Amino acid sequence: MKTVCIVAASGKLGRYMVKHCLDRGYQVRGVCREKSVAKLEPFKDQLRIFPGATDDREVISKAVAGCDGVLTVLVPWGRKHYATGTAQAVLDFAPPGARLVFSCGWHITRDEQDRISTTLRWQEHLARWLGALTRLIDIDDQIEACRRVFASDTRWTVVRGSDLEEGESQGLPVWSRHVGDPVLASNLTRRVDYALFMVAALENDLLIHEAPAIVGCLTSSASKKDDNGGNSPSSPLA
Ligand SMILES: NC(=O)c1ccc[n+]([C@@H]2O[C@H](COP(=O)([O-])OP(=O)(O)OC[C@H]3O[C@@H](n4cnc5c(N)ncnc54)[C@H](OP(=O)(O)O)[C@@H]3O)[C@@H](O)[C@H]2O)c1
Repeated sequence: MKTVCIVAASGKLGRYMVKHCLDRGYQVRGVCREKSVAKLEPFKDQLRIFPGATDDREVISKAVAGCDGVLTVLVPWGRKHYATGTAQAVLDFAPPGARLVFSCGWHITRDEQDRISTTLRWQEHLARWLGALTRLIDIDDQIEACRRVFASDTRWTVVRGSDLEEGESQGLPVWSRHVGDPVLASNLTRRVDYALFMVAALENDLLIHEAPAIVGCLTSSASKKDDNGGNSPSSPLA
């Protein structure tokens, strides 16, 4: 992995991913809205910035050209299929064979085998209803974006994040194929570690065509068992 593009680089997750990629010695490119370029000021000498909306196909085609990997933050802003447009542009213009890693939430399901809690189900309904009312977000846009990724023949991974919190890194999160699996019981991940998992996935071929649901390695139920019973945190296939 030499050259990596981060799509939505100026957000909280994006900036953590920029840092992790630079730490690994990658050549890093970032796409972000023109008005947010200043947020990347601390990295300005180490990063090539492509200003523009992440669903702007011309911007994405230039930013991902020649990249070995693309890290894409999917956020369903507005009611104009922003996340879907972003995902489609990356799928269409990333070089064949590039590793593509996308972010989303636990409400995304790949095979309908997830056991979503009633609380999360209600949160999704509420977000859908509020989004329609305010026209600020469109949960179904992220669902459609991920459906297109799952259907593509690219080398994709979709990383499904739990609730996020700020704080120092605890290490690589653990993951499982299905929400509701015991290891994911805590539903909490440090944002810096979500970014770490996204970046590590670039070089983990076992995660190709997987949609790992993740939680922090110290808050996972496996690590809690470790305190009591000696089991180590598990990260199946990671
Ligand atoms: N937040 C959570 O608790 C949570 C939980 C599970 C999964 N996730 C997933 O984690 C990823 C990152 O989420 P995050 O909450 O941590 O956010 P984030 O990293 O701060 O990213 C938000 C992104 O949205 C962009 N944005 C903000 N307003 C916009 C607008 N009006 N139009 C277009 N773009 C806009 C931001 O760009 P600018 O820098 O230009 O503003 C930024 O790149 C997402 O894929 C999300 O589904 C989040």
